[in-house]
Amino acid sequence: MIDIHSHILPGVDDGADTFETSLGMLRAAVAHGTTHIVATPHADPQFHFDPEVNRQLAAKLSSEVGSGIRILLGCDFHLTFDNIRALMEHPAFYTINAGPYLLVEFSDLVIFKNTTDIFQQMLSAGIVPIITHPERNPLLQQRLTELRGWVELGCLLQVTTQSLSGFWGSRARKFSETLMAENLVHVFASDGHDLEHRPARMDEAYQTVKKDWGEARAERLFVENPRAIIDGLPLPAPLEVEARRKAWYQLW
Ligand SMILES: [Fe+2]
Repeated sequence: MIDIHSHILPGVDDGADTFETSLGMLRAAVAHGTTHIVATPHADPQFHFDPEVNRQLAAKLSSEVGSGIRILLGCDFHLTFDNIRALMEHPAFYTINAGPYLLVEFSDLVIFKNTTDIFQQMLSAGIVPIITHPERNPLLQQRLTELRGWVELGCLLQVTTQSLSGFWGSRARKFSETLMAENLVHVFASDGHDLEHRPARMDEAYQTVKKDWGEARAERLFVENPRAIIDGLPLPAPLEVEARRKAWYQLW
């Protein structure tokens, strides 16, 4: 599986605190079937984003962890005025593996009225926004129509693996299922931050999607789409969405 969203670099944001934590997260990811992982530190008013520092940390981790997993670079890009200006000057500092795709995180408190314009500007500059974990954002949970509109515009949606297990609460879990039923999810990712509570793991969510929505959908959202994203290629044509497969006890 390919994980396009993680905070595995040590000491640069609220993710891994030490080099040992980073290595532990990577080893757990490898042990549970992740072959590629994108290190995506926050770029927001709280955390300074330095692509050169990130590159050096990723290289050091790569040489330590071995060939079982490939570490690529990206950014958990928060929509702020300064960030957008910096992005337009140096998009490859922020995009995944210096390709067209960019993780975009919304604030929990405000959604800019001109968000659609911002996305349109990005798209016409060749940058494809991947909206991160809308299912966890209390404002986006109430904006299914806008999300659908942004997807029609060309944006993608990424759901957090732990949302399916209820780790982020029942509203996040239910909204994940709504997005799946509406065929609006393009990719799952761990958004891993640490070893214990928010590990960089994809395997349990893969099994849940396989069980509930079929193996082809799981392969598409955990392997095929994220592979196209790291390779900077267009996504394959969407699969027809199947009705959720309910377990027998859910039919009562
Ligand atoms: Fe994140």
